[in-house]
Amino acid sequence: MTKIGYIVGSISSTSLNRQLAIALAKLAPEGVEFEEIEIKDLPFYSPDYDAEFPQVGTDFKAQIESVDGVVIVTPEYNRSIPGVLKNAIEWASRPYGSFSFGGRPVAVLGGSPGAIGTAAAQQHLKAVLSHVNAIVMGQPEGFIHVQPGLIDENHDITVEGTKQFLELYLGAFLNLIARVEKANA
Ligand code: FNR
Repeated sequence: MTKIGYIVGSISSTSLNRQLAIALAKLAPEGVEFEEIEIKDLPFYSPDYDAEFPQVGTDFKAQIESVDGVVIVTPEYNRSIPGVLKNAIEWASRPYGSFSFGGRPVAVLGGSPGAIGTAAAQQHLKAVLSHVNAIVMGQPEGFIHVQPGLIDENHDITVEGTKQFLELYLGAFLNLIARVEKANA
């Protein structure tokens, strides 16, 4: 069983990106399981927490470390990543020297009603993830232009080309996970 954690870079109760993450999870082949790694309960990170790391931070880090790979599905805010997502990455990178993303396969995906489909945010996110030593999937890039009706009420993708792209995207990520597992064996 391959376990993929997904982080949604939005805490909106109607997040398009959560819908996209669930739609991606529905395309998983047999033997692949998705679970959400939630960020909404993380307080603003401060170094004051390092001496006595709170349970919410420890649990968040442990969940990242328990999965075989992480997909971050994020909106773009003001041409970058939402603050809530950056805050979560801060938590995952502390206490000093314990990078929970370190050495782990991470893929980035995002959807927006805007035509560039979060491309600017993803560039920033990939730079941050490289710093915390994640093994970031370079290709394919997942810039999803979310037009009305793309994801239906059952979280199925209604546009065949987008569905095929997401299957290809997931296949590439599973490939990366397998290569990392082989290298670590
Ligand atoms: C946005 N949105 C947006 N879209 C985009 O393509 N590029 C951008 O830079 C921004 N900037 C931005 C800033 C802020 C503060 C908000 C609230 C929104 C629009 C955004 O893509 C849209 O609201 C999505 O629905 C957000 O994703 P979730 O939260 O629905 O997953």
